[in-house]
Amino acid sequence: MNGAINYEKSLQYWADIPPTVDGVLGGFGFISEADIEGSELFLKSLLSSEASPSTKMALDCGAGIGRITKKLLLPNFEMVDVVEPDEKFINSIKQYVGELSSKLGMLYKVGLQEFTPVRKYDVIWNQWVLGYLTDKDLEAYLIRCRNSLSKNGVIVVKENVTSSGKIEKDLTDSSVTRSYKQYLSIFKKCNLKRIKQCKQTNFPNGIYPVYMFALVPKELETTNQEQNNSCNIEQNELEL
Ligand SMILES: C[S@@+](CC[C@H](N)C(=O)[O-])C[C@H]1O[C@@H](n2cnc3c(N)ncnc32)[C@H](O)[C@@H]1O
Repeated sequence: MNGAINYEKSLQYWADIPPTVDGVLGGFGFISEADIEGSELFLKSLLSSEASPSTKMALDCGAGIGRITKKLLLPNFEMVDVVEPDEKFINSIKQYVGELSSKLGMLYKVGLQEFTPVRKYDVIWNQWVLGYLTDKDLEAYLIRCRNSLSKNGVIVVKENVTSSGKIEKDLTDSSVTRSYKQYLSIFKKCNLKRIKQCKQTNFPNGIYPVYMFALVPKELETTNQEQNNSCNIEQNELEL
């Protein structure tokens, strides 16, 4: 099913992309502002919830040049670590982040399929990257993330989903776009419970719908109170 995924080919694809916002967003740099605004609302609602995560350490996974680190995570956390396999991107992060770069922690140059967190994180942010992992590697990775959350920690997944309900392959960058239901099924297999989800709004027509999911370990269900699942961005039908 994940025959389109080839880690070497994706690395080669990204090696030829310039280290700019437009580059990491595949020519859609103009949606970055709306994207960050949607993420900010989502993150703020998590941080103001009853059993909210702490704001000490965040991890930006598949960070590119650090677009999310700079605009979303560093302003909200004491320290941010990043994971990014492309050498040119990871070498651009400090300069791109600028002023707040003293709050950058570890920069891990590795693919998520090989990455095991060694620190505890309050928020682990995964955006526009999980389509590069096979189902098997994605599940194993999410379980490793689940095991590295601090008290009340949350994994955030912000990804495109298909409208067709089926997985769609992209041979250009060797990735897949999963359906909404496929993501739910993967979260379930990993013993992750959704405590909040939103659909991003203010994106141009004709691109994939983008969903944000906040996930916590299932055994924490009672401490991490299920939040009301509405949000300021858009309320979605839920199958919790
Ligand atoms: C579409 S860009 C998104 C970058 C960033 N998350 C953002 O939203 O600005 C995808 C990023 O995933 C990285 N990537 C590709 N395959 C990966 C893998 N197996 N593990 C981690 N990152 C990967 C690419 O190098 C690239 O930086």
